[in-house]
Amino acid sequence: AKDPVRVLVTGAAGQIGYALVPMIARGVMLGADQPVILHMLDIPPAAEALNGVKMELVDAAFPLLKGVVATTDAVEACTGVNVAVMVGGFPRKEGMERKDVMSKNVSIYKSQASALEKHAAPNCKVLVVANPANTNALILKEYAPSIPEKNISCLTRLDHNRALGQISERLNVQVSDVKNVIIWGNHSSSQYPDVNHATVATPAGEKPVRELVADDAWLNGEFISTVQQRGAAIIKARKLSSALSAASSACDHIRDWVLGTPEGTWVSMGVYSDGSYNVPAGLIYSFPVACKNGEWSIVQGLPIDEFSRKKLDATAEELSEEKALAYSCLT
Ligand code: NAI
Repeated sequence: AKDPVRVLVTGAAGQIGYALVPMIARGVMLGADQPVILHMLDIPPAAEALNGVKMELVDAAFPLLKGVVATTDAVEACTGVNVAVMVGGFPRKEGMERKDVMSKNVSIYKSQASALEKHAAPNCKVLVVANPANTNALILKEYAPSIPEKNISCLTRLDHNRALGQISERLNVQVSDVKNVIIWGNHSSSQYPDVNHATVATPAGEKPVRELVADDAWLNGEFISTVQQRGAAIIKARKLSSALSAASSACDHIRDWVLGTPEGTWVSMGVYSDGSYNVPAGLIYSFPVACKNGEWSIVQGLPIDEFSRKKLDATAEELSEEKALAYSCLT
């Protein structure tokens, strides 16, 4: 039997946490033959609720779940973890300035970075979900210098999956037959959902999405804005932000990173830019990546047209501004 993998979920008493921990305990994230020990962190006001989640995990009698740590102590939560999913953060409340929210999250990610750096297992893989996801991941990277930068990522897989979903609905094809969309840049409304390299498996072979949709106005307009604004549409409908889709996409992100992407397929991940596609180095930026042997690499050499270039640059610009704002909060 395999040794259990320790998976940290911060903000585990929140909405995404509530959807995510049972998926992890069922093997959705790491495979149906991989035992797990869940580490759940939240803050003291949520301690009782967190304990309730722990009780439900016991009650669900998950065969793969070999243990549960539920704590408000970051050091205890981070000790020995192999995978860290950072969902906890400070939400923007009405009337708050962007800088105030940034400053709260910077201080959370700075201190959790140190706890991870000192106490996580070597080679721990980190996924930041909490917003502003890219910039929180960047702060985590800066304050955990001994964690390799290739191990720190943020979630744009939800946006990627939303793009697959929109194409599948439009063409009335199975979502599993659509592949290779790309989310470039920030997990915010400046992101660029790009279908220029996406294809659909059809009985007549693989066809470009652009050819099948045959409506550039829709692909360059409504499609992009629907994906960019989907989070807001969910809030409007549910009066709560996306949770089950965020949790499921976080599982997809880690599963593909650890177990690999199929040959010829890529996914979107927010990773530390090395300057590929002339994106400024030193930002956490969403790129198309292929994964193998537990490592991602940016898919190189895709042609970028002028329309796309502007959109890649605009979202990079927003991330540079966020980075500057985050640094201005560090003292
Ligand atoms: P929520 O408010 O229901 O849960 C957040 C939890 O984090 C709460 O239980 C809170 O007590 C906890 N928390 C706050 N500060 C903490 C700290 N310092 N350490 C540990 N836990 C802490 O929020 P929800 O809906 O679960 O969303 C979580 C985050 O994920 C938000 O920042 C949201 O904007 C973001 N998000 C990101 C998505 C993405 O695609 N990247 C998609 C959807 C949400």
